[in-house]
Amino acid sequence: MTRPFPDDLLQVPHRRDVPFSKLTTLGVGGLCRWLFEPTTEAEAQAFVRACAREGLPWRVLGGGSNLVVLGDVSTPVLRLALPKEIQREGNHIKAPASHGHIALAEAAAAAGLSGLEFASGIPGSLGGAIRMNAGAYGREWVDVLTRYRFLTPDGELVEKAPEPGEFRYRWSYLTGGRVILSATAKLVAGDAAAIRAQVAEYREKRGTSQPLSKRNAGCIFKNPPGLSAGRLIDQTHLKGLRIGDAEVSLEHGNFLVNHGRATAAEFAELMETVRTRVREAHGVELEPEVEVWRDSPRS
Ligand code: EPU
Repeated sequence: MTRPFPDDLLQVPHRRDVPFSKLTTLGVGGLCRWLFEPTTEAEAQAFVRACAREGLPWRVLGGGSNLVVLGDVSTPVLRLALPKEIQREGNHIKAPASHGHIALAEAAAAAGLSGLEFASGIPGSLGGAIRMNAGAYGREWVDVLTRYRFLTPDGELVEKAPEPGEFRYRWSYLTGGRVILSATAKLVAGDAAAIRAQVAEYREKRGTSQPLSKRNAGCIFKNPPGLSAGRLIDQTHLKGLRIGDAEVSLEHGNFLVNHGRATAAEFAELMETVRTRVREAHGVELEPEVEVWRDSPRS
């Protein structure tokens, strides 16, 4: 970074040169040169406003569970560090975007509230889950979301209910410089034992079909309409394909795993190889479900 950052930006809590191996579940990538970690919504707003005023590109990082970083990143990275409070009002729960997603699902289950069982095996932060409308077992976030707060690219704070067109399969419009601050879900009072049993069933299902004991970034590609990316990769006989320590999981074709020392370049090459081979074999273009960061302006 040749240009110094303005004082108001530097007043937001930040750390320098944090390895992405510590910030992502896949454990690859270079250094995060500037990691800004606001502990209040006001600090997050100050960050976005300062960047907008200066015309500085920046990126937002959640739990790092759906992210492949290719190299060092010098653009400022925002990772919320808001207090992990869950507020309950009747059957509604509200949590900050930086709350752990699985921890939130567990808290809802412990409180006897049903509706977030699907989320109990999806890692990352709540903000990341909302941002991509995460889902599993036929349920997704937009099914329970009633309100959310976010910052616009100019740093204006907005709180609203979701509207048609804002969320689709593994997609929301909350990208491009918008930062989710908190979300409220409408759940239903249920039988705590039945909720726990459902959570356990989902975990068991996931544990047998996905490589949860190895470092991974969740499903790498979106399911093409009416198709399964995992099955397509499997049918192309790519399971076990390995470049260095990066491998197409033997358990589930749509997972790439890090056997320990994989590099970002190896993952980039493996992803490209999988896309090419599936295109050649099936004529289907796989679209990444994970976010891929190269050091270019925010996406
Ligand atoms: N299949 C294969 N071979 C494989 C993998 C899958 O033949 O290597 C077959 C399965 O037998 C099944 C079908 O493909 O018939 C679908 O597989 P699965 O049930 O594992 O679901 P998926 O579509 O691959 C989706 C989500 C997962 C979520 C599961 C469970 C996407 C891209 N993936 O996987 O989400 O955990 O359903 O609901 O939508 C993620 O978002 O990161 C993720 C992992």
